[in-house]
Amino acid sequence: MPQLVHENGRYALLVDGKPYLMLSAQVNNSSAWPAMLPEVWPTAEFLHVNTLEVPIYWEQFEPEQGHFNTSVLQLLLDQARQHHVHLVLLWFGTWKNGSGHYTPKFIKLDEAEVPHVVNADGRRVDSLSPYSRFALDADRTAFAELMRDLKIMDAQHTVLMVQVENESGAYGTVRDHSPLAEKLFDGPVPGKLVAAMHRSPGTWQQVFGDDADEFFEAWSVARYIDQVAAAGKAVNPLPMYANAALRDPFHPGPPGSFDSGGPTAEVIPVWKAAAPSIDAIGPDIYMPDYARYTKILELYDRPDNAMFVPETGSAPEYARYFFAALGHGTIGFSPFGMDTTGYKNEPLGAPTVTDERIGPFALNYQIFGPMEDVIARLNFEGHLQSVAEDPEVHTQTLHFGEWDAVIQYGMPQFGSGMAPKGNQPADGGVMVAQLGPDDFLVTAVHARVDFEVADKASGKQRQFVEVQQGNYDDGQWKFVRIWNGDQTDYGLNFTSAAQVLRVSLATY
Ligand code: DGJ
Repeated sequence: MPQLVHENGRYALLVDGKPYLMLSAQVNNSSAWPAMLPEVWPTAEFLHVNTLEVPIYWEQFEPEQGHFNTSVLQLLLDQARQHHVHLVLLWFGTWKNGSGHYTPKFIKLDEAEVPHVVNADGRRVDSLSPYSRFALDADRTAFAELMRDLKIMDAQHTVLMVQVENESGAYGTVRDHSPLAEKLFDGPVPGKLVAAMHRSPGTWQQVFGDDADEFFEAWSVARYIDQVAAAGKAVNPLPMYANAALRDPFHPGPPGSFDSGGPTAEVIPVWKAAAPSIDAIGPDIYMPDYARYTKILELYDRPDNAMFVPETGSAPEYARYFFAALGHGTIGFSPFGMDTTGYKNEPLGAPTVTDERIGPFALNYQIFGPMEDVIARLNFEGHLQSVAEDPEVHTQTLHFGEWDAVIQYGMPQFGSGMAPKGNQPADGGVMVAQLGPDDFLVTAVHARVDFEVADKASGKQRQFVEVQQGNYDDGQWKFVRIWNGDQTDYGLNFTSAAQVLRVSLATY
């Protein structure tokens, strides 16, 4: 049974009892239909994914209330097994990008039982109320059925995790203002939340002041989703997570401009208190610039949260952030919209899904695929550091006790002494893991990596005892060749070739 575990503030997804790194991609929203799958698998193969994220549509799974259709689920499982990849299932239920567009007709057309969220002016917005008892019961019944069916159909655990809803919340208002919501808002904050946030009891306004509306909505949505997840877990306890439509970390935007109620960075503690059945909260990162991307990683890398990037842009500049996410201990990484069904979500993603544009993602997975178990273990044990290139900074230093790993971007493979000028555009990424006091595992794209003695006053200098190129196969190191001469005299230079090195150091 796949399991999410944590130790010393670090997380691992255990698959077959071992830490596992999901090298993933997500298909376009309408691509998990049988007729579309031939346009999905070639891209998955090209990318070397070991995991594919695919939606399960409530409207397809339960077209009529109480009548469930597992045919698409079966096909997805069959085809994933044929392609030797795992799946992450995305439950498109009450929420999909803040709306209820994937609900079956018996939900969509029943405004009396399933009202919309109402904004402060009394206008309905395109999102379903988190206070509909009818919708909650229907959603959790369907989700529990899905998990029960999956348990029977997937004894071999092709499915590793399940996303419960998709980018939950509502756009166009910070909270629901329906009569029922108003009544709850004027009532006391639930004791569990008061305790978790270390506050004194009172109404939402009294306890949370300016944050009251936002926290109220987050609590309401998270409580709903927790009950859906709990119903599923009761029959099939797979790891479950929620994904977030993010606010700009530096300019969070005015009220109503963001997906309120969902697990944005601002309300993670509320979600943690409200939704204990949700094991992880993952940011959907569509911010191509280095400062914002890495800030989001920082915000979701918390001792109480497993880092996971369930969606990110498919444009080439996002590929290097795989390394940054790894440096934050991620259990997986998943560019979005990876298939050839013809849909492009530009400007969030690449203008076309061509081999050339998605090549940098494929390169990452080509490098890490054979050693994902080794990397996931080293990361879980805290031996690994990994970074992406910042276009403003051309040298980075990683500290490993007595050794510093010094990274330079924009260097030729041959020669030394010149100042690094950065790659244009920034596309470098580096991973260094410490295997022993003087032994390192190193891989990178578009970067030069070298080592220096950390104690600069010691007068000691580094020498390479041996630099082996190879890779792992089933956890065993397979030697390819020794790098020496031009290949080491100017540092270890990585290009767009998939190369992994084991480096032994000494001083002279
Ligand atoms: C984030 C959502 O979660 C995805 O389903 C998709 O709509 C992308 N945004 C945009 O293509």
